[in-house]
Amino acid sequence: MAENLPTSPSGAVPRHIAIIMDGNGRWAEERGLPRRDGHRAGAESVRKCVETCGEIGVEYLTLYAFSSENWKRPKTEVDALMRLLEAFLKEKTKEMKKQNVRLQAIGRIDLLPERCQKQLHKSIQETSENSGLTLVLALSYGSREEIIDGIKSVLRAVREGHIDEAMIDPDLFGKHLYTRYYPDPDLLIRTSGEMRISNFLLWQISYAEIYITPKLWPDFGNDDLKEAVADYARRHRRFGAL
Ligand code: IPE
Ligand code: IPE
Ligand code: MG
Repeated sequence: MAENLPTSPSGAVPRHIAIIMDGNGRWAEERGLPRRDGHRAGAESVRKCVETCGEIGVEYLTLYAFSSENWKRPKTEVDALMRLLEAFLKEKTKEMKKQNVRLQAIGRIDLLPERCQKQLHKSIQETSENSGLTLVLALSYGSREEIIDGIKSVLRAVREGHIDEAMIDPDLFGKHLYTRYYPDPDLLIRTSGEMRISNFLLWQISYAEIYITPKLWPDFGNDDLKEAVADYARRHRRFGAL
């Protein structure tokens, strides 16, 4: 695949950026506010980030918005996040249409509240003809679950005779993941300083460049994103070669 060839630090813009948007709760706690206010502020960072990615020519932006493990949070917080998601989609779809953004989602969407699912499908449908940035929201997403679903899908294909076991390789397996329509991320950003992946795109980030910033997600602005991209552009990607 052409996108997997080694590249030199040419100032290139990453084709696909994936972000673990972390630190909303701490942002709110620092201000003596309820955690949901942190999530609301985080939604504004999403808006800015989508705008900047579109401007600088990023093709795919995958945002980790809600993990499979986040269901373990108190019901009040989960409910607030789901309401916020629905409101965000309702409010921003028009803007996405104007910005030529195509919305997509990965994860166990069927586990989201019905109202969220409906709004999500509506927003995806209404932006499906757009040809600019593809914004992928990871919702009720867990990478281990995705890999297990992928294994089941491959087994089914073998059982039904569509493929032979000998054909299974990384490329084929990638076509059985939720992310099959997108190239692998080139740059993975995590905000709020945590040095972990938290079950996000484990397969797909094999050769992503990692950028971790102490900034909390609601404080992560256009300049921070541009700094992350500039840092990426200075790196030598080698993909195991010399
Ligand atoms: C990220 O912020 C948003 C979600 C996980 C939904 P957090 O809510 O994890 O914020 P912290 O990590 O508690 O500060
Ligand atoms: C990762 O953040 C999930 C999202 C950003 C949606 P978490 O705050 O849930 O991750 P941990 O608990 O710090 O690993
Ligand atoms: Mg967190």
